[in-house]
Amino acid sequence: MKRSEINAILKDAEQFVHACGFNLPPFASWKPEAWKQVGPDAAEIAHHKLGWDVTDFNLGHYDSDGLTLFTLRNGTPENWKTGKGKLYAEKILLVGVDQVTPMHFHWNKMEDIINRSGGKLVIELYNSSPEEELDDQTPVTVVCDGVVRRLPPGGQVVLSPGESITLPQFCYHRFWAAESRVLAGEVSMVNDDDADNRFLKPLPRFPSVVEDEPPYYLLVTDYPQYYRF
Ligand SMILES: [Fe+2]
Repeated sequence: MKRSEINAILKDAEQFVHACGFNLPPFASWKPEAWKQVGPDAAEIAHHKLGWDVTDFNLGHYDSDGLTLFTLRNGTPENWKTGKGKLYAEKILLVGVDQVTPMHFHWNKMEDIINRSGGKLVIELYNSSPEEELDDQTPVTVVCDGVVRRLPPGGQVVLSPGESITLPQFCYHRFWAAESRVLAGEVSMVNDDDADNRFLKPLPRFPSVVEDEPPYYLLVTDYPQYYRF
């Protein structure tokens, strides 16, 4: 993705989040120059990969295959291995109408996806086969706000604002918004985007960035370049 495209997406994202009445932590609006000033006391932000994340999965068409996220809190793979420290994560996801996050599951992370505000959030579901492909034979059982839902393979759950779904490990899911853009929340176990995403069609989780202008805000993948502690 071009940095100019990412910058425009971020400016639009912060307006949308504000319009939804959701408030982000201070580091959401730190400019690249601010990152050069902050010292080691803020190392958790970079080390736990908190902050902005804009991706088109390197497919080149963000509007149809893409997602903007902001990670508010997260643990680390080390936390997860030892069972100590921060074992949870929280994100927001900005999902456009018909903007698909591709089919994937997580080996380790169990996650709740919550429609916080906006239109409808559509989630398509399959079980994983033992070979980690789509199982198009077995029904999918999930829990939505404490109530069991049974769906055929490839069935869809449509979440209105306030509704949520719990996605267990190995449950294939892809999602998009309908009717209007959605501000979704994610509450989960530790998020590890480097090692815990099984995309049905192998895809990079993060795009390669063409630097055609300076960053407006840093992405989580920019920290090694701008913040070294
Ligand atoms: Fe997921």
